[in-house]
Amino acid sequence: MVSALGVAVVGFGWMGRVHTQAYARVPHHFPQLPVRPELVTVVEDVPGRAEEAAERFGFATTARDWREVAADPRVHAVSITAPNFLHREIGVAMAEAGKHIWIEKPVGLTAADARAVADAVVRAGVQGTVGFNYRNAPAVVYARELIAAGEIGTVTHVRVRLFSDYAAHPEGALTWRYERERGGSGVLGDLASHGVDLARFLLGDITALTADTAIFVPERARPTGATAGHTRATGGEPGPVENEDYVNCLLRFASGARGVLEASRVAVGEQNNYGFEVHGTKGAVLWDFRRMGELGVSRGTAYQDQSVSTVFVGPGHGAYAAFQPGSANAMGYDDLKVIEAHHFLRSIAEGTPHGATLADAVHSATVLDAMSRSAESGAWVSL
Ligand SMILES: NC(=O)c1ccc[n+]([C@@H]2O[C@H](COP(=O)([O-])OP(=O)(O)OC[C@H]3O[C@@H](n4cnc5c(N)ncnc54)[C@H](O)[C@@H]3O)[C@@H](O)[C@H]2O)c1
Repeated sequence: MVSALGVAVVGFGWMGRVHTQAYARVPHHFPQLPVRPELVTVVEDVPGRAEEAAERFGFATTARDWREVAADPRVHAVSITAPNFLHREIGVAMAEAGKHIWIEKPVGLTAADARAVADAVVRAGVQGTVGFNYRNAPAVVYARELIAAGEIGTVTHVRVRLFSDYAAHPEGALTWRYERERGGSGVLGDLASHGVDLARFLLGDITALTADTAIFVPERARPTGATAGHTRATGGEPGPVENEDYVNCLLRFASGARGVLEASRVAVGEQNNYGFEVHGTKGAVLWDFRRMGELGVSRGTAYQDQSVSTVFVGPGHGAYAAFQPGSANAMGYDDLKVIEAHHFLRSIAEGTPHGATLADAVHSATVLDAMSRSAESGAWVSL
């Protein structure tokens, strides 16, 4: 029997919309789920935005203050898709109110924030799923399986890249993302958090690192109105960019493997150039988010001049079969969020976590904090 599960979405910018659409689509792709999400309420700070979302996506009610959701008995699960500085307060309060949470990365401003939310979830006995969506890509799941099965030998080194240009325009508005108080770190929390999660998902724990960071666009204009996503602003009062645009980092893994992680939000010419190359003693796996359904695989016994084949993912790789019946039908970013919604709802239905959890967010945030410390001191940091 399928039972209804009341959900709320707090913060209706890009991620709020994507979570909402994932709730709507999840029963289409995963009909075996014993719970069916019902859109109870949407919370927004910007006047009119919640009402517009309710009208367009079918929420029963709207609210201006997220505390109303914590007290609302109709709501059993909450998407926390507000800016980073609100993650801790809202995450802890929702867990304490007995709501399951699907919270966006990086889960707060620091590892202490992520830990506070993780602890609250454990104390309350609710489920907590985190928005590390790239690990949901069927090709990434397949890469992990190949690595774990020893298909590329012993992993020697990995390169993880997250290059984007969303902050490259000098007129990009000085939104919450560029402030320490509301955004926390810059590209570390925004993109490198995904990279750290991917590296751990594929290769296991990171034990030591050294990092270097830089701000390349030091000043931006403050927005003159409400913002969502990466708004442009001209004429607003200029203010300083307080967090890093760029990071490069050397990694050591518990396995002995080495890695390089590089992330930039100001890389002109790069749009969502996210991916990895994992090398082992006998082969390699290569992935690029922009060609999400393809995995480059080099395996065999040649060692030198060994070719790379492109595997088009299909049924049997990760959650692909929930979307398409045959290989090489392209999936998109939003599909990764449908998979994440499925993990969240399945965790609630079964009382056991599936997919990325708050423990994963704490691991990622701990590594990011270590990167910040290393960038300040110039030294290697052990974890
Ligand atoms: N997983 C991913 O790939 C991914 C991608 C983008 C963003 N994110 C994360 O999602 C979160 C939101 O990012 P976004 O890009 O959607 O930002 P956004 O700026 O587009 O949206 C944030 C929304 O929250 C609203 N808001 C602010 N304060 C509020 C409050 N007190 N109550 C209710 N609503 C409030 C804003 O008005 C805005 O509409 C961030 O933590 C970000 O790191 C994750």
